[in-house]
Amino acid sequence: MKRILLSIAVLCTALTARAVEPAVISIETDHTQLILTADADGNLRTRYYGARFGNPAPFLLMDASRHQDNGAGPMTYPTTGGKFIGTPALHVRYADGNHNTELFYAGHVTAPESISEDTNRSVTRIRLEDPVTAMAVDLWFVAHKKEDVIVTHAEITNRGKKSVELLDYASSAMHFEADKYLLTHTWGGWASEMQVDRELLGHDTKVIESRRGVQATQSNNPSFMLSLNTEEFSETAGEVIAGALAWSGNFRLTFDRDDAGRLNVITGISPFAATYPLAPGKTFHTPDMIWTFSDCGAGQASRNLHRWAWKYGVHGKGEVSLYFERHPRPTLLNSWEGAYFTFTTETLLRMIDDAAGMGLEMFVLDDGWFAKDYPRNGDDAGLGDWEVNTDKLPEGIDYVASYAHDKGLKFGIWIEPEMVNPQSNLAHNHPEWVVKSPGRDIYQERNQWVLDLSNPAVQDFVYGIFDGVMQLSKNIDYVKWDCNRVIQSFGSTYLGQEQDRFFVEYCQGLYNVMRRIRAKYPDVLIQCCSSGGGRVDYGALRYFDEIWTSDNTDGDCRAYIQYATNLIYPPFIMGAHVSAVPNHQSGNVTPLKFRFDMACAGRLGLELQPKNFSARERALAERCIASYYQYRDLVFNGDLYRLSSPYDSDYYALMYVSPDKSRAVVYTYCLRYQNREGSQHGFRLDGLDPERSYRVKELNVDRSCWWGDGKEFSGAFLGTGAFNPDLPQKYSSAVFYLEAK
Ligand code: DGJ
Repeated sequence: MKRILLSIAVLCTALTARAVEPAVISIETDHTQLILTADADGNLRTRYYGARFGNPAPFLLMDASRHQDNGAGPMTYPTTGGKFIGTPALHVRYADGNHNTELFYAGHVTAPESISEDTNRSVTRIRLEDPVTAMAVDLWFVAHKKEDVIVTHAEITNRGKKSVELLDYASSAMHFEADKYLLTHTWGGWASEMQVDRELLGHDTKVIESRRGVQATQSNNPSFMLSLNTEEFSETAGEVIAGALAWSGNFRLTFDRDDAGRLNVITGISPFAATYPLAPGKTFHTPDMIWTFSDCGAGQASRNLHRWAWKYGVHGKGEVSLYFERHPRPTLLNSWEGAYFTFTTETLLRMIDDAAGMGLEMFVLDDGWFAKDYPRNGDDAGLGDWEVNTDKLPEGIDYVASYAHDKGLKFGIWIEPEMVNPQSNLAHNHPEWVVKSPGRDIYQERNQWVLDLSNPAVQDFVYGIFDGVMQLSKNIDYVKWDCNRVIQSFGSTYLGQEQDRFFVEYCQGLYNVMRRIRAKYPDVLIQCCSSGGGRVDYGALRYFDEIWTSDNTDGDCRAYIQYATNLIYPPFIMGAHVSAVPNHQSGNVTPLKFRFDMACAGRLGLELQPKNFSARERALAERCIASYYQYRDLVFNGDLYRLSSPYDSDYYALMYVSPDKSRAVVYTYCLRYQNREGSQHGFRLDGLDPERSYRVKELNVDRSCWWGDGKEFSGAFLGTGAFNPDLPQKYSSAVFYLEAK
């Protein structure tokens, strides 16, 4: 990629003059096309984003006809100033107090594939300039052909002689023209992350924003789907746009519908308390915005994003077929809910024995192993003091990690390096590193404070925590990186009077740290946890291998969370654990099999005390774990087909199909049982090859709940809805494995 960027940089040096010739720019993937035009006056407009249709030239006639916008129209990167009166992508305040910016097309370059390392991608860079204020914006579009994904961002340069302030600085503005826009997005809270909201957009402005600083996605996620020209959300029909912002800090998604019914979607960093100063000669790089389009419903939009994520979007990216081989995600036993803060070496060794005995592949030591002067025996002390608590673990971490390795397990360990307890040596030694508002007490959440990652010294410290923990044993294979509070009452000693930079630079500071970690530890698996799913976004996923989807492991609640997570994010990044019921997150008592069947749809783990299993439960657990390995590769690189939504039905069902359609796994769950008539619910097994014959086998049971178990059926037949397992009560579930002859 570096080579592409350099080549384009060279080509673009010529792009400095105001264009005189109208231009049409077509950014194409295998099935989609984004078309922009520049008219003779230099206005750059977004004319079309949808199914690929061919020659874009006629759009120039539309420009020439002067049948154009009324000021709030399809400007590709709208600014405050000129004719435009809608929500801007860019709003600049100049040194003299002026608020007006007008950007004009000054040229573009599409990198020929021959100079690209990856012929699946082409890169287009468009230069916009304001001749009056000397602001310049480069819009970058990277088209990923096979995945039908376009990734875009803006680079904003102050070419003037005085500093300016960026009041709005979006990554992307996209323009749509449809009769109706059905917005699907996710909101939530701790233990109920990723809840689907759907609404028809009205003639007003809809804003989805996070101002949490960190844990930015604990409520809203920086992603969405838009179903066009419909009031119905469909998996299989209709035009659907999906978008996701790759940023782990405050974000804002604005859906601005003008008086002609057209929709502008402006996405980027939230400018909340973040007016960003830009000195002469400096460039601000906005985060990537990821777009995809499907003309056959939401299912394809999700699959496009998942396939893109496999290859480009998640740390350790690679070819789909190689991905899993290179980056196997082990099943695991996590110590948290089984031991919390109360354990000894002996407790951990017994859990490791149990994990190995049950066929799991890794043991993860969660919170509670560190701090001596302020031992971490609860959540009120020790954060920041990353030394082993030898009262609890006199033999140290290496002893436990090596024991796990000797038993054939990998070993993982928990850290929360961005945070500090007031009761810690760190808080006493470095009060200037804590995020705080001058002259006020610092609010505590979960008895802790946030470290100021905008400060390079703190970045060094946080990097050092990771590096130091990795030195505790050469047998550390996995790190769970936690982050358990939001930022309130913000303030940075380091930034002095430039507090406006805080939120942006905190997030960039995190990425600086992660870049350094990845340079030294490219192969250590790192889980992104933030009180569960507080940091689920494609910005974090560049550095992390997986997410902790939610602290809520209740099978019922997980149906909603996992369904919604997978609208945008692939199943293989989704940590999904079985824990005891009821537990501290949920009072629901779901059957163990139901919990396993749900967790087996992600990266399977257990988070309980195995010695508390009855013999029957343990046998079931071992059976479910063993069968998971039969189809685990499909969780990691299969195509997801959602068969039934928990939000719209009494049943949740989904399937993963191998890329060559030779194998599949189908999950079915009854979430609400209304009446006896309903127990045999028919699901259409989409995604199979209609011409091929598949043998269907139910897993994890002695007696199947489907009459067709063990038999062979064509993909066409299985797509009719005749697949109707008997799920006779609330929390019945069944998992089926399909293999083509
Ligand atoms: C919050 C996480 O989400 C949990 O899984 C666990 O690691 C605790 N923190 C530990 O304090």
